[in-house]
Amino acid sequence: MTRRAAILVSGTGRHLEHIGRLCQAGELDLEVGLCLSNKPGVLALERAEALGIPQLVLDPERNLNDAGFSHAAFTAIQDAGCDLILLAGFLRMLVVPRAWNGRVLNIHPSLLPAFGGKGCWGHHVHQAVLDRGCQVTGCTVHVVDNQYDHGPIVLQRTCPVEPNDTVDTLAARVFEVERDAYPDAIRQYLADA
Ligand code: GRF
Repeated sequence: MTRRAAILVSGTGRHLEHIGRLCQAGELDLEVGLCLSNKPGVLALERAEALGIPQLVLDPERNLNDAGFSHAAFTAIQDAGCDLILLAGFLRMLVVPRAWNGRVLNIHPSLLPAFGGKGCWGHHVHQAVLDRGCQVTGCTVHVVDNQYDHGPIVLQRTCPVEPNDTVDTLAARVFEVERDAYPDAIRQYLADA
């Protein structure tokens, strides 16, 4: 039976768009039932709208604490009939209730456990990789637990760090790897479920 996923975003929603298109083309056996954002007005919401994916902005003024935000998010996700959550550039702490253990995935733009944790996101990750002189980097798709970038790894993909890389050139190379890594990890996850 086709699973129904909520995709959680805070920014441009590149994975949301790619995964949404793959689902609609029948290349990923998944339905996207909700795009939930903690930020209003982000490009991800426009992309969801264009794909016909229902959208919800939750707590844009940050009135809720992490537990309150998470409770509201899981309630909305369940009400939307979703039983799987994909974090895709989502930058708020999500406290995963026990009933959802193993059903929340995230993609991170480094080879975890290196360059993960609080504050390690986006260009901060790639800058740290360059500062350390890494010759290889990549991305990790993992199951989300209640520590940042910590849960069991589903899939990793690598790419080289080139001598003249800037944060932007490296970020672009890693994202190219991410584009296939997330759908491949989801397929693997669904096959193993
Ligand atoms: C990706 O680099 C992913 O690894 C990270 O967020 C980025 C995608 O979000 N978790 P966006 O398209 O930039 O909003």
